[in-house]
Amino acid sequence: MRTVTLEGRGAFDEWRDAARALLGDGVVPEQVRWQLSGAAGDLFGSDAGAPVPRERALEIAVSKAFIEAAEAAICHSEPDRFSLLYRILWRLQTERSLLQVRSDPDVADLVRLIKNVRRDSHKMKAFVRFREVAAMQTKRRRFVAWFEPEHFIVARTAGFFQRRFTDMDWLIATPKGSAAWNGQELKTSREPAARPEAEDETDELWRTYFANIFNPARVKIRAMQSEMPKKYWKNMPEASLIPDLIAGAERRVQEMAAREASQPPAFHERLQAQWRGREEEGSSTDLPPLVRLRQEAASCTRCPLHCHATQTVFGEGPDDAEIMFVGEQPGDTEDLAGRPFIGPAGQVFDEAVEAAGIDRSQVYVTNAVKHFKYERRGKRRIHMRPDAGEVARCRWWVSKEIEVVQPRIVVALGATAYLSLTGESRPIAEVRGMPIPMQDNRMLLVTTHPSAILRMPDPDLKARSLAAFRSDLGDAKRLFDTLHLR
Ligand code: URA
Repeated sequence: MRTVTLEGRGAFDEWRDAARALLGDGVVPEQVRWQLSGAAGDLFGSDAGAPVPRERALEIAVSKAFIEAAEAAICHSEPDRFSLLYRILWRLQTERSLLQVRSDPDVADLVRLIKNVRRDSHKMKAFVRFREVAAMQTKRRRFVAWFEPEHFIVARTAGFFQRRFTDMDWLIATPKGSAAWNGQELKTSREPAARPEAEDETDELWRTYFANIFNPARVKIRAMQSEMPKKYWKNMPEASLIPDLIAGAERRVQEMAAREASQPPAFHERLQAQWRGREEEGSSTDLPPLVRLRQEAASCTRCPLHCHATQTVFGEGPDDAEIMFVGEQPGDTEDLAGRPFIGPAGQVFDEAVEAAGIDRSQVYVTNAVKHFKYERRGKRRIHMRPDAGEVARCRWWVSKEIEVVQPRIVVALGATAYLSLTGESRPIAEVRGMPIPMQDNRMLLVTTHPSAILRMPDPDLKARSLAAFRSDLGDAKRLFDTLHLR
């Protein structure tokens, strides 16, 4: 009997070296005892074969498919994985097509391990929650996260976080290893890590975000728990809301059904009323320019969107604001209230603005298109994206707002705003993250639109996009501070 002792923390190399040597020595799988270092048997391992020198290890021909499968399965925490893999490796020497025989018990076991590992990795991507910690010497923002995976997946999943969060320093600590990124180097360790202490305002952002995307009419508790198993809840700030949201779901659905669909008043009545009001007020030339502009926009008929919208939703904020945010168009809530960014997207926006240290009352917030474009589905009014013609017609108002307010920084929220401000249609990813000079020494920054984040079906992608959005607004604030220091 040969005993092989491994650390067994998901490192493929240690198993591969041992397996190669055993195979080279012709040791049949039944003659190998695999154990973890630190296990009781280790103390009495008198029959343990000495570590096999590398030069004795044969280059065994195995397929790429097996290596990939073994690299995944070795991350599983099941102790039998080493012997299973060696048995398969042994059999592959004579049964070349073994991996294709899905009904074979060894292969079925291998597939099960791989699935578990992939699922754990997927959960890590979805449920890691970063918390900001004070930056040290560097200017980069630093984040830490604590996660409890079932398997040794940290090293194989770390690349995902590196690609998504390149512009911040982060550490993901877990009882099964850790990963850290400093902008240049990704370091992973298979040692159990200590849980970092951190709670920051991001937790509140997660809770607001989750409460916003929670749709009481679509609560499927079992599906929800299988997608977001309870064991992950304790490390997810938003999970504290789940019991109350579920408990109140039924009542909220009834309230939603009871609420009548919002009916905008007939547009001609609305416009006539506005004109009547204006005639009674007399000349408006004494009014401040922004007030006058808002009044004129209230009866805008430059494009047909005014016919079905409740009212023009004009920009809001001080007429000398130094930062201007431009969204796409008002949503249902904004259309009814006549104010920009006060609905669900507005809440995501507000949270991000606040987290970036920007005072919303000091910025000017407006939209590329001033009327709500939608289609009716039953009682609901569903947002429709404005087309290039509508954006072009409304650009007149946006440029007037810029002319009056004279902001130093303009932030385009999404592709429609970017189109309105530059006349160019480009994917956001291409123009995001670099200040673009505009006329009059103004800087344009481009980021995603908060509604686009809310609409993302993949929770994992949603979470990353939210963090990236927040980080973009942080950049806007830093740019603002820099301009002020000049
Ligand atoms: N989306 C926008 O672009 N603007 C709003 O005011 C609300 C949602």
